[in-house]
Amino acid sequence: PQGLPASVDPELQESLQVLKHRITRLEGVLTLEGKLTEVGEKILATSGKEVNFETTLKACEHAGGSIATPRNKEENDAILDIVKQFNRYAYLGIRESDVPGEFQYLDGKPLNYTNWHASEPNGKGGENCVEMYTDGGWNDRKCNQYRLTICEF
Ligand code: IPD
Ligand code: CA
Repeated sequence: PQGLPASVDPELQESLQVLKHRITRLEGVLTLEGKLTEVGEKILATSGKEVNFETTLKACEHAGGSIATPRNKEENDAILDIVKQFNRYAYLGIRESDVPGEFQYLDGKPLNYTNWHASEPNGKGGENCVEMYTDGGWNDRKCNQYRLTICEF
């Protein structure tokens, strides 16, 4: 009847159950392929493709997300899972600021978590992007390399 909340409409209830079940199965398939990881409220996903930094940004935006940005160890580990599955380095959503050697999130805010590899960052203004190695450590690197696309949603 009109005006009743969705929670008491049995048909809507049933449709929701069916949808949830279908989403869970799709998540299972993508997780099995190493293409999807859930961490907290975030979903991380890869296209499996290797492209430069600018193309990564565009691809993630086009998909309705943004480039993967580890904000704590748990998120770094989740991105690392994908990097290891594909055995390919990935660019992160971190860039050098106007101050050489200082890195920030893409919105310009300062980093509140870092996982630099030993003796990184070392580019001193010459390596404006950041890649994740297959051990989870970060390296500042030129932005023109071909790296595994990982987005967050
Ligand atoms: C470099 C090294 C270095 C790292 C640089 C890389 P390349 O590799 O791996 O340790 O700090 O960012 O560019 O350019 O000499 O093959
Ligand atoms: Ca470096």
